[in-house]
Amino acid sequence: MIGTANTWGIIGKSSMLRLVLARFFAIGSFLIGIFAIGLFAIGWSFATPLHAADSDPVETLESLETDRNMRVFEPESPNSTTIAEVTYLLIGIQAVIFLLVGIPLCIILCRYRHRKADDGIEPPQVYGSNPIEVAWTVGPAITVFVIFLVTTRSIYEIRAAPAPPEAVHVRVVGHQWWWEYEYLEKNESGYTSLFTTANEMRVPLSEEGTPRPVYLDLESADVMHSFWVPQLAGKTDLIPGRVNHMWFQPEHAGWYTGQCAEYCGTQHAHMWLRVKAENKEDFDKWVANERKDAVTDPTVAAGRTLFLTNACVNCHTIKGTPARGQVGPDLTHLMTRKTLASGIIPNTKKYLLQWLRDPDSIKPGCNMPQMKLTDDDYNKILDYLLTLK
Ligand code: CUA
Repeated sequence: MIGTANTWGIIGKSSMLRLVLARFFAIGSFLIGIFAIGLFAIGWSFATPLHAADSDPVETLESLETDRNMRVFEPESPNSTTIAEVTYLLIGIQAVIFLLVGIPLCIILCRYRHRKADDGIEPPQVYGSNPIEVAWTVGPAITVFVIFLVTTRSIYEIRAAPAPPEAVHVRVVGHQWWWEYEYLEKNESGYTSLFTTANEMRVPLSEEGTPRPVYLDLESADVMHSFWVPQLAGKTDLIPGRVNHMWFQPEHAGWYTGQCAEYCGTQHAHMWLRVKAENKEDFDKWVANERKDAVTDPTVAAGRTLFLTNACVNCHTIKGTPARGQVGPDLTHLMTRKTLASGIIPNTKKYLLQWLRDPDSIKPGCNMPQMKLTDDDYNKILDYLLTLK
């Protein structure tokens, strides 16, 4: 009774519903895909290329915020370049598959839609086609295999890169909510500590024939964090009780911005970091200064005494003084850093005083306590800190 059977009668109500839903989702996802490509294109056209070297030293809060370059598609290190290339390849493959499936799908859904004249006519009953089924099994399998090979090769290239003799070694410890950097020197017996600093990492540029990549050992003092400087390398987690490794090699001088990329508590979003790539002489000068003890300026003796007799010493180290705390950043050369509180405010007299008096006003929930001193005492401590160059 084919001639009189209606569509509902042939395929059943639930199948009809499935058909309608399938059409709905197919066209819906196609439109969402087009929308996503559109958004991507708009975002791309608005993104002004910002070279790391273009960013000026931080002076104001505004420049600090606008100088942050977190663009993965402007890589400036061999491994971030590899990652960007793989990403382009994946986006390309996805775009081709999307169009190969989406366009015919939309054409078929419109051209062969249910029409009035179709009522009561059963469509031709086709039960599969070997060539087509082989094609849509083998095609995706080959695509996935190619993606697998390219990704594996890239991961291997990044992981297996051995440290050349000129490499810089830094132990990075993630804290709630700041970064500790311990610069290490490699010798026969392993590594010895050179000095410790915080939040701003300085690294030397490589030269023709003398690569100077930076190798990091990543650890955590509390919870999980993730070290991420998009222009330099992919993310690597800092996991309590474990040491992870990564490296990067900046191609241009300048400041690179990064951020903690693993939720680690209240101030996770304020766990910025900055990497300054500079020429070898400047880097060596900086290292030589960092290795020195803090200066002792007799004109700020009162502030120094206040610092050393208050709870500041429980958390902070100032080399050359009894202050040996390990909880907060090393302040020995505080004033060589451009920012405070893990890259969120400029390291100027005004902000440093505000940070001392009321850390919560800048970083709510942070572990730096309010000391409740007199204005006079705060100013004396401020004057002392300002000498730590
Ligand atoms: Cu540290 Cu998020």
